[in-house]
Amino acid sequence: DPITTPDITSICKDAGSGIRDPEAIVRSTKCCPPSLGKTIKPFVFPTENTVRMRWPAHKGTQEQVEKYKRAIQAMRDLPDDHPHSFVSQAKIHCAYCNGGYTQVASGFPEIDIQIHNSWLFFPFHRWYLYFFERILGNLINDPTFALPFWKWDEPAGMPIPEMFIPKNTSGIPNPLYNVYRDATHVQKRLLDLDYDNVEKDISNQAQIECNLTTVYRDLIRNGADTLSFFGGKYSAGSSPVENGDKSVGSVEVGTHTAVHRWLGDSTRVNREDLGNFYSAGYDPLFYVHHSNIDRMWKLWKDFGFPGNVEPTDNDWLNASYVFYDENQDLVRVYNKDSVDLDKLNYNFIENPNDILRWRKARP
Ligand code: C2O
Repeated sequence: DPITTPDITSICKDAGSGIRDPEAIVRSTKCCPPSLGKTIKPFVFPTENTVRMRWPAHKGTQEQVEKYKRAIQAMRDLPDDHPHSFVSQAKIHCAYCNGGYTQVASGFPEIDIQIHNSWLFFPFHRWYLYFFERILGNLINDPTFALPFWKWDEPAGMPIPEMFIPKNTSGIPNPLYNVYRDATHVQKRLLDLDYDNVEKDISNQAQIECNLTTVYRDLIRNGADTLSFFGGKYSAGSSPVENGDKSVGSVEVGTHTAVHRWLGDSTRVNREDLGNFYSAGYDPLFYVHHSNIDRMWKLWKDFGFPGNVEPTDNDWLNASYVFYDENQDLVRVYNKDSVDLDKLNYNFIENPNDILRWRKARP
């Protein structure tokens, strides 16, 4: 049977799993969402006419950047216990990844749900960002609002996008700044997509080539069929595998995790924020990183190679999650409804030449 998320507002426990040292945490492990006494509704596809076009973070216009900052600031200004607050949005990741929910709805109350390390990785994060984007748009009354994406597959996009770095701009606190990042890497800026907790002593040009090769590895060489790309089958009754298992999808285990590791603060035992599931959502970089991960799914599918098809197994199609939507309604969403970007009404601004660059970077 498919993994079925229970009512997140009534069946939820504090985060427990996956935290190295509970004494050293810097974020709360009380990650359950607020309860507004609502019942779960079915999801309805959006009806607005304008497609939200996600934009490369390093190429944002001043207007796009200002708008993004304004929206994130509005989110931060909400009281923490509001389902749309920045803290509530961050806690979604913690609850789904550090043992907040069990498989009780599929008959396994003793087994936790884990949306990483398996074929739930891409669809879960797609839904998570889908609502995050729409909430931000509502907060600034902009139905065309679209997220930026950290375009680390293009050389010019590989450094940490500038807007996330300063603590203040003209004396005003930057809502995209976060203190819990690896200071050495923030200084360096050019990321290592193949980072495995070991510093590479190579030139920038060599790092860029390495990054391009790594994208090729994850999307083409190691992702040639459905489960290699998405990750292994994960159905009700099975306990989630740990990181490093062969059944983790090529992008998830590769570039995805490398960026988390590279940015988590290596001087902290729990590697906050991005180096641990429970805290990752507190860094605004999380959402632009995942926006690009989401784009990797789209690019992979659009290549149209014979193996590049989404899972058709019922246990994948009908796996479901529960979120607060942009109207504070509680909705249940299914993997099967995540596959068509046209229906979800967003897309990515592309330059085909940028994609060619790494497609030619065969290792
Ligand atoms: Cu849910 Cu990048 O992790």
